[in-house]
Amino acid sequence: KPLVVAIDGPSGSGKSSVSKEVARRLKLAYLDTGAMYRALTWYCLKTGIDLADGAAVEQASKDLPLELSTSANVEYVSVAGVDITEEIREPRISSSVSAVATTLGARNELIRRQRQLIEQHHRRMVVEGRDITTVVAPNAEVRMLLTASEEARLRRRGLQLGGTQSQEQLAAQVIHRDAKDSTVVNFTQAADGVVTLDSSELDFEETVETALSIVGK
Ligand code: CDP
Repeated sequence: KPLVVAIDGPSGSGKSSVSKEVARRLKLAYLDTGAMYRALTWYCLKTGIDLADGAAVEQASKDLPLELSTSANVEYVSVAGVDITEEIREPRISSSVSAVATTLGARNELIRRQRQLIEQHHRRMVVEGRDITTVVAPNAEVRMLLTASEEARLRRRGLQLGGTQSQEQLAAQVIHRDAKDSTVVNFTQAADGVVTLDSSELDFEETVETALSIVGK
C-alpha cells in the first residue's frame, strides 16, 4: 500500500533528523532532497560552472552522475563515484546552494529525479525538503510542514543571536539562505491540506511522536 510522507520545512526545523526517524519507525525508504541540491552545487563548483549561468547549471543538473542513499540508516552521497557525503555539508556549499536551487531548469530536473525515486520505491517513502508537499508530491498520503520559531531553529544549529561575532555571522547566513530559498518555494506557510507541526516547544522524541500520530490519522 503506498505511503508517501512529504515533509517540508526551513533550516533548523529538525526536518532531517525527524524525517529519518519517522522513516525508520515506519520502515519506509527515505529521500533527502536537500542533499541533491547540495550535490549539484558541489558538482558545479568542481567543474567550474558559473552559478549565475542558468543554462549551464541546468545542463549540469542533467549531466549530474549522482548516487544517493535512500535508507534512513545509511548516509551516502556520491558524484561520479566520489564520496561527497561529508563535503556537501561544508559552509562553502551551504552558502552557494541557494544560487543553484533558484535555477528553475535545474529544479525541474531534480524534481523529475525525485519523482522517479519515489516510484522506484513503490511510493513507500519519507521525502523531505522545501517543495515536497506542494510540487514534488502534492498527492502524498501524508503532508506536513515542520516549523519552529527562529530562536528555536538557531538554537538547534548551535547558534544564538547576541552570541560571539562568528556565531552572529553563521546565524545571519542561515536566515539569509532561508530568505533566498523562499523566493522560489514557499515553505513558511502550509498549503491547503498540509498539517503544520510546530516543534518550538517540543523535544526530539515528542516531535517524532507527533509526526507519527499525524501519519496515523
Ligand atoms: O541545511 P538545511 O537542512 O537547511 O538544508 P537542506 O535540506 O540540506 O537543503 C539545502 C538547500 O537546498 C536549501 O537551502 C534550498 O536552497 C535547497 N532545497 C530546495 O530548494 N528544495 C528542496 N526540496 C530541498 C532543498
